[in-house]
Amino acid sequence: MNPILVALDVDSADKALALADQLKGAVGGFKIGKQLFTAVGPSIVRDITALGEHVFLDLKFHDIPNTVAGAVASAVATGAWMVNVHCSGGSKMMRAAAEAAATTADRLGRPRPLVIGVTVLTSMDEAALAEVGTSRPVMDQVVHLATLAKAAGLDGVVASPLETAAIRAACGADFAIVTPGIRAAADVGKDDQARTMSAAEAVQAGATYLVIGRPITGAADPRAAAAGIRAQLG
Ligand code: C5P
Repeated sequence: MNPILVALDVDSADKALALADQLKGAVGGFKIGKQLFTAVGPSIVRDITALGEHVFLDLKFHDIPNTVAGAVASAVATGAWMVNVHCSGGSKMMRAAAEAAATTADRLGRPRPLVIGVTVLTSMDEAALAEVGTSRPVMDQVVHLATLAKAAGLDGVVASPLETAAIRAACGADFAIVTPGIRAAADVGKDDQARTMSAAEAVQAGATYLVIGRPITGAADPRAAAAGIRAQLG
């Protein structure tokens, strides 16, 4: 499938649906995160799914296993194609998430969503990790958590472009890697994304899906911007 997932970082259903309508068929799917979900609720996942589009529900669940399993089950009922949980919740929590996805999808007769792990937030550096008690370098911790996620039955992880190659090497070809921080080649390193790559570089490094927000949603013609990025991927 088209690997581009567009981040709908907007605050209303109208804005999200307008973007989805504009980009329908030109991208692989849409990411709904905490801002839009908290403003609008689960109906937006159903509405975009009803357009025939894939929805990555990026709520990064992190709680006791039973609660995360319940949240994943609720996500399956919305029709989400991909959901995510924090790997730092531990193997038991990740297994509970994977099992809830499978059993709920079975029960509802829906396709099982991909369950993806969040390793280390890209906003955290080594000092921030040390503050919360993790002494490993960021890259080692990312690969460690990705390996745990794979062993717990998750389908992949979210990773910055710079971590993608190491995860691909450690976790193999079938493990999905969802990569944000994508910029046009000329804009790599600009704005608030510190660790960026172009779409082609990220795919080259092993990314399976690319989460792209402002380079598409902020363009004068979002559909043309998405098509342009897609064309660079060959
Ligand atoms: O606009 P931009 O392309 O920077 O949007 C990237 C999207 O990916 C945003 O929704 C952002 O929250 C998300 N994201 C990220 N870096 C991460 C995880 C998620 O940029 N490590």
